[in-house]
Amino acid sequence: MKMNVTWILPDGGEISAAIDPGQSLMEAATAHDVPGIVGECGGCLSCASCHVHVDEAWLAKTGEVEEFEDVMLDMASGERKSTSRLSCQIEAHPDLDGLRLYVPEV
Ligand code: FES
Repeated sequence: MKMNVTWILPDGGEISAAIDPGQSLMEAATAHDVPGIVGECGGCLSCASCHVHVDEAWLAKTGEVEEFEDVMLDMASGERKSTSRLSCQIEAHPDLDGLRLYVPEV
């Protein structure tokens, strides 16, 4: 079963896609050419170019920031907020159907 995700761009534009579970939200973003999500390191937590702000309504379901992700978030471009995550660390899952992610302004 696919899940729907919407990326909200800094200019207010939105990109929505139905994606397969099991991939990261960074992989899904790059597959759908979401501007501002680069995923330079391929998801191994060494670039922080997959920074997103998770919609507050979805924070609990997207899980906790791990220790190394926390360190890397300090190096991410765009404002770090309490809702900041590296999207390579969020796995697509049917429970996240309807997820909304904001692409930070840089
Ligand atoms: S893709 Fe490099 S840290 Fe997420």
